[in-house]
Amino acid sequence: MRSFIIFPLSLLFSTFAYSSVNKNYQVYAEKCSSCHGLEIIEKKQKTKDQWKETIKRMERYGAKFDGKQGQILEYLVNKK
Ligand code: HEC
Repeated sequence: MRSFIIFPLSLLFSTFAYSSVNKNYQVYAEKCSSCHGLEIIEKKQKTKDQWKETIKRMERYGAKFDGKQGQILEYLVNKK
């Protein structure tokens, strides 16, 4: 009986997790591709602090991230 409740719940959460990953990618791809390609970012491996610094540096170059830095950072630290 209990699995009838748990199954739809886990389905709901996995759908949510998937769409938020996708959303982070969309924000990142939109915000980080206006000055250079995404390739130079994709090939870099940095720690969370280094990515934070990189995002700040891009802002000094004039990038506008509209408060979405958190989503972009989440994508960057989880990318392979
Ligand atoms: C306003 C223009 C601009 C935007 C928007 C921009 N960048 Fe950059 N980026 C630059 C410039 C200019 C350089 C080359 C100079 C340098 O490396 O500091 C660069 C270089 C880089 C590099 C290579 C050097 C390094 O730090 O390893 C990475 C990685 C990078 N950008 C990441 C990003 C990310 C992530 C975003 C989105 C959050 C982004 N950039 C958005 C201007 C921009």
